[in-house]
Amino acid sequence: MNTLPQNLVHRRILLIISGGISAYKSLDLIRRLRERGAEVRCILTSGGAQFITPLSVGALSENKVYTDLFSLTDEQEMGHIRLARDCDLILVAPASANIMARAAQGLADDLASTVLLATDKPVMMCPAMNPAMWAHVATQENIATLKRRGVHFIDPAVGDMACGEHGTGRLPDVPEIVTAVAQFFEVSGPLRGRRAIVTSGPTHESIDPVRFIGNISSGRQGHAIAAALAGAGAEVTLISGPVSEAPPAGVQVVRVTTAQQMLEAALKALPADIAVCAAAVADYRPAEAATSKLKKSGDLGLSLTLVQNPDILRTIAQGNHRPALVVGFAAETEAGIEDAKQKLARKGCDWLVLNDVSGGKVFGQEDNTVTVLKNAGKDATADVWPCMSKTDVARRLTAEIAAAFE
Ligand code: CTP
Repeated sequence: MNTLPQNLVHRRILLIISGGISAYKSLDLIRRLRERGAEVRCILTSGGAQFITPLSVGALSENKVYTDLFSLTDEQEMGHIRLARDCDLILVAPASANIMARAAQGLADDLASTVLLATDKPVMMCPAMNPAMWAHVATQENIATLKRRGVHFIDPAVGDMACGEHGTGRLPDVPEIVTAVAQFFEVSGPLRGRRAIVTSGPTHESIDPVRFIGNISSGRQGHAIAAALAGAGAEVTLISGPVSEAPPAGVQVVRVTTAQQMLEAALKALPADIAVCAAAVADYRPAEAATSKLKKSGDLGLSLTLVQNPDILRTIAQGNHRPALVVGFAAETEAGIEDAKQKLARKGCDWLVLNDVSGGKVFGQEDNTVTVLKNAGKDATADVWPCMSKTDVARRLTAEIAAAFE
């Protein structure tokens, strides 16, 4: 089991690095946040850029670094309003006296201050400055103003300063900042306290010791859903068939090979509040797997007797410990919404995510186009989502799951 705190998985953090000698710590901060599964995008102010370079920030965040309010290229790629809102938290570290004063005043004279004014997302500031600047009534009043407006603060540490003075004003150590960010999400995760089971990937059903029946599912969509649910605070058990996809951080992973093992693992993980069955389970398995490698026998073909595998989704949806919300997937090459509605009713799940896998679409790909069906009978709805990355499908599905639990 992965022991990293689960609450930064897939969290999108916009890190504003303002001017200060401690800006060098932001480089390590980027690494540590990312290690815990966060996606970090950075704004480097002109003051910050006196201490560290956009190149190092970009290399560590593996993202474009934004520096300029009036960059035509940046605006075409992502306008500053979207930059301000396309995140789960804006973290200002280090936050100089200057940036806090400008935020308190509502100035919008550079990219960082404009983003702070335009955002509708939570903001957390980590002030760092000389002790006299920290203690100054102007700084303290600015902080009081920002706190009144809902800005979260991580107080600076006491110690020796780079300027040779001693007092309050040091940027806290990076692990402390990471913990504070994690705690922030822990408290705010909409699925905190909920348990979720996700099945993902294919199953392999043995024919003999070296051959199996399987399919080309990569597990990418199921793994992304497990990560997104964990990111929203849920305690997630991911039951994964054989895939090369890396296990998401903060998720308990149970690896299985066959459908029967997947069913056993799923039943063991119950009770849960949410079950998302995204696995492409083999419908059939050889009645008996040969104990030694099958040999060719002359020109004759080979017949295998197959028996049906248990239906994991149906067993969960119709079982005694049914989770409050059961979501199935339907990978179809030709079926339409009517067939999908019937499948939803047949399986007994609440929602069904229909994807068209014809012509090599979806399996193993980055993107997915899905139709989400909710409820059976007269309350049934079908919502066609535009083509988006599997990560975005996972996020949107998680947001809808969270809304269903509100
Ligand atoms: N599923 C399952 N166990 C199985 C077969 C399918 O849990 N043995 C789940 C899948 O994870 C998915 C849903 O059922 O969430 C639909 O899978 P799909 O393969 O589309 O449905 P089938 O029941 O296999 O129906 P068919 O192939 O006949 O369309």
